[in-house]
Amino acid sequence: MADVDRFSRIPNNVHLNDDKRLQRALEAWQPAYLEWWKEMGPAMAQEKDVYLRTATSVDADGWAHFDYVKMPEYRWGIFLAEQAGDRKIHFGDNIGQPVFNEVPGEYRNILRRIIVTQADTEPASVEQQRRLAFTAPSLLDMRNLFQVNVEEGRHLWAMVYLLHAFFGKDGREEADELLRRRSGDPDKPRILGAFNQPCNDWISFYAFTMFTDRDGKYQLASLAESGFDPLARTCRFMLTEEAHHLSVGETGLMRVVRRTAELMKANPGKDVRSLGGVDLATIQRVINFWYTYSLDLFGGEISSNSADFFAASLKGRYQEERRDEHTAMNQVKIVPVVENGRLTNKEVPLRNALNEVLRDDYVEDCERAVRRWNHELEKLGLEERLVLPSRRFHRHQGEYARNCFDPTGNLITPAEFEANRAKWLPSEADMAYLRSIMQPVHGIGQIAHWTSAPARGVDSKPFDFEYVRLG
Ligand SMILES: [Fe+2]
Ligand SMILES: [Fe+2]
Repeated sequence: MADVDRFSRIPNNVHLNDDKRLQRALEAWQPAYLEWWKEMGPAMAQEKDVYLRTATSVDADGWAHFDYVKMPEYRWGIFLAEQAGDRKIHFGDNIGQPVFNEVPGEYRNILRRIIVTQADTEPASVEQQRRLAFTAPSLLDMRNLFQVNVEEGRHLWAMVYLLHAFFGKDGREEADELLRRRSGDPDKPRILGAFNQPCNDWISFYAFTMFTDRDGKYQLASLAESGFDPLARTCRFMLTEEAHHLSVGETGLMRVVRRTAELMKANPGKDVRSLGGVDLATIQRVINFWYTYSLDLFGGEISSNSADFFAASLKGRYQEERRDEHTAMNQVKIVPVVENGRLTNKEVPLRNALNEVLRDDYVEDCERAVRRWNHELEKLGLEERLVLPSRRFHRHQGEYARNCFDPTGNLITPAEFEANRAKWLPSEADMAYLRSIMQPVHGIGQIAHWTSAPARGVDSKPFDFEYVRLG
């Protein structure tokens, strides 16, 4: 595309050069960002050449430029998808109006909250994944980890641009705070629960990119509908990068399941752990953990925030543009809730149930991936299957957080939950076992014993390409 400035200190397609104040403010934030990257970014290979893709434009087929890059020299840029002619707001109370190119005063606070909440997840995940390279199961996996990390850094840049450009002094302070919070820090934690959980083994990393990054996809997709056009355009371009993260997670888990299935098939009746693999029960528990923490990220099942965001035309539904109806008025959604100690169905005005509507789309997408993993078991004639737990199980946010449920969604007592915890969720022993088999495999074309090599590399390169020059 025209108008991409690739060579200034901050690559961008937002005409930073024409706004010296904004440019200076972002250039002042840049060293703090690099400090944060040095302290909290990947703890290995910072000085090594990594085969990475860099966004250099927003053209459908021209943006991903692959080359060897040392991570601290990655060109973190600000890229918004192209402005679409005279776009009109297409949902909520402002439907039919021209899109907002500035922040409407009455929406300033909620819009800032939406952007800060999304922004905070980006550096958080980098912090969570900080030490994974040490135990990477292959060079390709290590490279994929670094790719995800540098792109989460770029997503932070994208959000910080919005804060600096549209929210004045408050925005600049929020941008500074984004570099001060730390994942899992008791005093200065990240904003959302899932982003404070440790992610120290590769099964968890795959589950994180499968389930938690996938929440990100649905949040970004609903913000890509936003009537605040700069946010919509920012999110639209982030989604193109996000697709890779999701595939790292989905295919990562598929490769582990395939390996486990092979070990089970070749050694009927034997404990997979005694063969150095990851048993299905452990995979299931890791899925249960990250899937449920990711369900929390959609917010309460019954939520006045969701109604406000939609009414203000700031956050749409998934693929809002493709729906026939865009007011979400005079409709209800049935939400099961606990009343008087039992589950009953409650009719909720649709606008107040939009978090749940978005969660429906997410759950369906996750079910599709589970079917794909189960196909690996099926192909080898195994009877076992992985499942997604009920969306009521193990919740820390929303309608179900006050009660305990089993993985099929039945209401149970806290004592029953505790008695089964180690069966349903990863235990200390599971984590210790995973740590014990996570030995680095850093040779070209080699793969760890507990997983299988992917069918393809990246950028049409073979699996045995030197994705990271560890030298
Ligand atoms: Fe991201
Ligand atoms: Fe991501």
